Formats: sequence, C-alpha cells, structure tokens
Amino acid sequence: MKIGVIGSGIVGQTIAGKLVELGHAVKVGTSDTSKLEEWLSKAGEEASVGSFAEAAAFGEIVFNCTRGAGSLDALQLIGEANLNGKILVDISNPLDFSKGMPPTLTVCNTDSLGEQIQRTFPEAKVVKTLNTVNAALMVNPALVPGDHTLFVSGNDPEAKATVIAILKEGFGWKAVLDLGDISTARATEMLMPLWIRLWGTLQTPMFNYKLVIGE
Ligand SMILES: NC(=O)c1ccc[n+]([C@@H]2O[C@H](COP(=O)([O-])OP(=O)(O)OC[C@H]3O[C@@H](n4cnc5c(N)ncnc54)[C@H](OP(=O)(O)O)[C@@H]3O)[C@@H](O)[C@H]2O)c1
Repeated sequence: MKIGVIGSGIVGQTIAGKLVELGHAVKVGTSDTSKLEEWLSKAGEEASVGSFAEAAAFGEIVFNCTRGAGSLDALQLIGEANLNGKILVDISNPLDFSKGMPPTLTVCNTDSLGEQIQRTFPEAKVVKTLNTVNAALMVNPALVPGDHTLFVSGNDPEAKATVIAILKEGFGWKAVLDLGDISTARATEMLMPLWIRLWGTLQTPMFNYKLVIGE
C-alpha cells in the first residue's frame, strides 16, 4: 500500500520506518527535506520524502505526525483534495509548550484536536490513535511487557477496522480498544497531562496504561 506520513519528527520517522519495514511504499512530508536526509539514507528503497502536500497526495492512507499546535496549519497546506475519502490517522496531541513545562492543552473538555481535524476535513476519515504512547512503543508495544491498552477513536467503522488491522498485524498491538466516535479523542488527548506527569515521576517514557475490567 502507498502511505503518506506528515511530519519529520521522531513520530513521523518511527511510523514511516516501520511501515517501510512492513513492505509499504512511504512518502514522508516536511517543509524542510534536509531534516530527513539521514533517515532516508537508512530507510530503504520504498521510502521517499517530499512536501506535506506531496506526501498526502502519495498516500492511500495518511498519518498526521505533526506538532499538535501546528497540525491544522500543516493539514491546510495539504488541502482537502489530497485528503478527501482517505483514512487520516491522527497521532498528534494538542500541546502548548509556549509557557514552558508542563505544557497545557490548546483544546479540551468540549472539543479535541481530532474533532477539529475531522470538522476541517469532513470528507477525510479521521482515526485518532497511538497519541497516548511514546514513539518507540507505537511500533513495538513489546518494549513494555503485557497486553497494555491502545485506544482508537473515529466516526467511520471501516476506517477504524483498517487502522486496527495495521496496529495489530503490523505494529503488534494486542489490546486495542475502540472508544467510539471521534469525540472520544477528547478523553485520550486529555490523558496527556497525566502522561507527562508519569514521565516525570517514572523517569522513563516507556510505560503504558492497562485497562483491567471486572465482572
Ligand atoms: N514524541 C512522542 O513520543 C509522541 C508520542 C505520542 C504522540 N506524539 C505527538 O506526535 C506528534 C509529533 O511529535 P514529534 O515528537 O515527532 O515531533 P514534533 O516536534 O511535535 O512535530 C514535528 C513536526 O511538526 C511539524 N510542525 C511543527 N510546527 C508546525 C507548524 N506550525 N505548522 C506546520 N507543521 C509544523 C514539523 O514540520 P517540519 O517537518 O516542516 O519541520 C514536523 O514535521 C505531536 O503532535 C506529538 O504530540 C508524540
């Protein structure tokens, strides 16, 4: 499958690298392709880089791995025509670091970045997932022992099924929980303040939440 990955940071590079490893053709989008020179030199023949718009146009599925505060701007650069009808996997978190640490959320409670993206691109099928775990864990959940939980939010059941198949069969996730429509992204994005505090307390980003259900 041809996949577009928007974002040149650690998440974009990690997701794109894993997708190439799984046999997909992947184009990573950035405003500065020099940031990806080293990554590209090691990523294999099916990897390429381009602008945000070129990467999205290339992909049958598109992953949003841009900084949350800039995601809507990045996606606007891409334009609706390159996203309409496509699955848009949204990994971003709406974090505002402008006033230092810990960051605050740019949107919360009654709205979420996932919903803002879905409203801006009504013809795209937004699936929010992977935003609650560290980049390395996203594509290698076994780095933390046990069947810890990954959440999925989105309005389109078929799109969610396609993404869940990539998460399980491709990335190795076992406990994937479909929370419901895209408004449930409010809840997973609002886990970020807790996640950041846990990172500080545990002194490692290699942890995850595990849902334990009673009778
Ligand atoms: N790091 C993690 O372990 C982790 C875990 C879970 C979720 N996330 C989320 O995943 C996303 C990516 O995280 P990251 O750590 O890989 O990198 P990041 O530094 O948060 O984002 C880097 C990407 O965002 C783009 N970007 C930044 N500001 C922008 C703006 N104003 N307009 C357009 N694009 C902009 C950059 O564009 P250029 O390529 O043009 O520079 C780059 O591609 C974030 O939303 C983050 O919250 C990260």
